[in-house]
Amino acid sequence: MKLADNKATLSFSNGSPSIEMPVYSGNIGPDVIDIRKLYGQSGMFTYDPGFLSTASCQSGITYIDGDKGELLYRGYPIEQLANHGDYLDTCYLLLKGELPDAKQSTDFHKLVNNHTMVNEQMQFFLRGFRRDAHPMAVLTGLVGALSAFYHDSTDITNPEHREISAIRLIAKMPTLVAMAYKYGVGQPFQYPQNNLSYSGNFLRMMFGVPCEEYKVNPVLERALDRIFILHADHEQNASTSTVRLCGSSGTNPFAAIAAGVACLWGPAHGGANEACLKMLDDIQKMGGISKVGEFMEQVKDKNSGVKLMGFGHRVYKNYDPRAKLMQETCNEVLAELGLENDPLFKLAKQVEKIALEDDYFVSRKLYPNVDFYSGIVQRAIGIPVNLFTGVFALARTVGWIAQLNEMIGDPEYKIGRPRQLFTGSPRRDIKG
Ligand code: CMC
Repeated sequence: MKLADNKATLSFSNGSPSIEMPVYSGNIGPDVIDIRKLYGQSGMFTYDPGFLSTASCQSGITYIDGDKGELLYRGYPIEQLANHGDYLDTCYLLLKGELPDAKQSTDFHKLVNNHTMVNEQMQFFLRGFRRDAHPMAVLTGLVGALSAFYHDSTDITNPEHREISAIRLIAKMPTLVAMAYKYGVGQPFQYPQNNLSYSGNFLRMMFGVPCEEYKVNPVLERALDRIFILHADHEQNASTSTVRLCGSSGTNPFAAIAAGVACLWGPAHGGANEACLKMLDDIQKMGGISKVGEFMEQVKDKNSGVKLMGFGHRVYKNYDPRAKLMQETCNEVLAELGLENDPLFKLAKQVEKIALEDDYFVSRKLYPNVDFYSGIVQRAIGIPVNLFTGVFALARTVGWIAQLNEMIGDPEYKIGRPRQLFTGSPRRDIKG
């Protein structure tokens, strides 16, 4: 970051002296006012719950222009990566800053493939869960438990430990997600098969059974790879900020990523794809397309507490570029599986059409986000609804690690410690 030409001056109406603060510019995007010395100079904090105007860090990984609807990973538009790249190359890009050349790509694929198995003991840990446990509850536990299995990569200050834990996490997440699924349906776990692609391997671990040969469908393989690319990183969202804050205490990478998984679970974040499909199911049960108008009235009624899931975003005030790509993938997958007339897909299109024309959504700049179509694609592939957020966590793991490692390498990095405006009781004494 570099000092901008101008400075910010904060003045007070009570006659206290005004304060000058430096302004920094990034390469693109809004400048920031550096308020780090504000408390020392004025005795005041800033107040910004929800981080509406606060940049919590400097980062060179992902850039979003919410008004344009643009998403760049290390400068590359998401459309180009989704159309020409593969997920592991995207992981390489996010972690190392550049796309790999042919040899680097082959080596990286091999390296990740070498770490797909999990310690055999892991399945006994998994077996402690109820069969009907939510996969995100299971995953939060499993990812956290990795730190108990890989003692040789838990020192966050050691670059080699960071490197190997990154590879382990990326390689093992598909295995863990598939294990959480198999456990729930009571089928034997499928060991990874390293001659398959990253997404092909995941499909086989999910849907293969020991008594039959599993053939990977290339359209579904590609669709899944695209889902992974689209979810790989999204700058300082809630789960990434959670990972950074958790990691800022110096905890091990597995623990920090487990915190990210836990945060992602919420319906306002990664849980939205699950919530979106449930919403479409509910509208279907109400009577389907003919009831969309009635449903929209509930959404617009602030007292109803009903939201249009898969719509709206803190940063995008335009169409989420990932939603467009996901809609394309949705068309491809449904055509491949002969599900073009899938009633839920038709319903989703109708909901989208009505919302995009309705003044409530238009005036608030509410557009479909990535989760609006990702649930339909995943359901068509055969992924159960309660595993959608687990698939999102799998894909986002690389983003969390890249951001965590960036933070550790930042000379300005400090333990995260927000302050507060205290509104509770002042000091008082117990009577008697
Ligand atoms: N349905 C109906 N109204 C909405 C919606 C929605 N989905 N989203 C926002 N609004 C309204 C909101 O009530 C508010 O109205 P008003 O100005 O009259 O009070 C206005 O739009 C601004 O919304 P906000 O709550 O201030 O926006 P936010 O930035 O705090 O929330 C959000 C962003 C994503 C949490 C929210 O849009 C939402 O809950 N959407 C549904 C859940 C969802 O799809 N989440 C996935 C996000 S993308 C995947 C990810 O990155 O995890």
